Amino acid sequence: MSVDPRRMGTLPLAQIHPADGPIVGECRVPGDKSISHRAALIAAMANGTSRIGGFSTAGDCRATLDVLAALGVKVTTKGDEVVILGQGALLPTDAPLDCRRSGTTMRLVAGLLAATAFRSVLTGDHQLLRRPMGRVAEPLQSMGARVDLAAGGRPPMSIEGGTLTGIEYRLPVASAQVKSAILLAGLRASGATTVVEAVPTRDHTERLLAWAGVSLRRVQAAGEVLTTVRPADPAPFEMTVPGDLSSAAPLIAAAALVPGSDLAVRGVGLNPTRAGFLRALERMGAWVEVTPSSGGPEPCGDVRVRHGPLRGLGVDSVYVPSLIDELPLLGLIATQAEGVTEVRGASELRVKESDRVAGLVAGLRALGADAQETEDGFVVRGPTPLLGGRCDALADHRLAMTFVVAGLVASGPVGVEGMGFVADSFPGFLEALEGLR
Ligand code: S3P
Repeated sequence: MSVDPRRMGTLPLAQIHPADGPIVGECRVPGDKSISHRAALIAAMANGTSRIGGFSTAGDCRATLDVLAALGVKVTTKGDEVVILGQGALLPTDAPLDCRRSGTTMRLVAGLLAATAFRSVLTGDHQLLRRPMGRVAEPLQSMGARVDLAAGGRPPMSIEGGTLTGIEYRLPVASAQVKSAILLAGLRASGATTVVEAVPTRDHTERLLAWAGVSLRRVQAAGEVLTTVRPADPAPFEMTVPGDLSSAAPLIAAAALVPGSDLAVRGVGLNPTRAGFLRALERMGAWVEVTPSSGGPEPCGDVRVRHGPLRGLGVDSVYVPSLIDELPLLGLIATQAEGVTEVRGASELRVKESDRVAGLVAGLRALGADAQETEDGFVVRGPTPLLGGRCDALADHRLAMTFVVAGLVASGPVGVEGMGFVADSFPGFLEALEGLR
């Protein structure tokens, strides 16, 4: 493997050369993106100083901090520690709030703004302006906020908050972002707010609220999970964010794919609602060892992965939320696995930073894989040798990292267009990979 150094970092094209040896060693990855967003937002709702260590260096989380600062929250960053002085309230601003490329920022901040007595506008770059926001506007409207969107339910989103009333809301799509927006608004609503999930999604908001002293009720009934909050003020808190399993995933995928590899990722998040990729890899035949450590609101620990002979796997809708962001990597791994891999119930993949079903299948096919789109997922038949070629990441960080890993197991160089977008979640990804050759 080698990366053309002139093209590393933020430049749009990376040329990845086939691995000339196994992926060996140990590493750490930046703090978890989902947890960092939530820690910052909950700290902003508290009255007092919260300290968040291991805060994500992702561009998306920076967008959340900048939006909070624009709303009058005092945010100080020292290395990877973020100190937030919350005042229990946000201040109005006339300027539109720029969420840049971060859907999580827009949807979760909407939950906070729903209860403020002023009007705000949430906007972002052209890619974010294409993403569906009706899913978050609708429940916030039924709680009593005034939310207006552009045509087709897309941003910019204008929110005029007010007096909110708790609702019971059954999520029509399995989305932790929508759930979180409703729960955060529920802290400022009168009465109880309950979110009902047919398929459980990541529960970071629930864990961090509990860490900040908010009591939540979680009940499982008739195959559904009901989460209820009542009006409450989160208390200031201290925590360390674990490494992001979704950022570790491309490195782990590389180790699973390249024969002879043995990789340890230290201090990474192991929340079961996020760890579906590790379970899937094991079922596909990779050797995966997890060593949990204790303390803090989120499970975390070390993950060690070794290559093994790989076989295909079926993934359906109940498992999808636990590995939603890792599905492109799973599709790549499937090209080197014996048999058929079919992912169903994953139509959400089509409304991420790009249409990840279309982008993944196009990229894998450009390298010679046998991959097909379905309406709600994809089918890959393996094993097929991957050839050198060129893949377009569609300005999507997860696709870019997937195609870089593809380059390690291809027989010739793979050009990946759109590498700069990797910084949305994992600045320094190429360097981290280089360090393990
Ligand atoms: C996220 C939830 C998921 C995930 C995204 C981050 C979160 O999106 O794909 O990368 O932090 O809540 P949805 O909630 O839209 O499924």
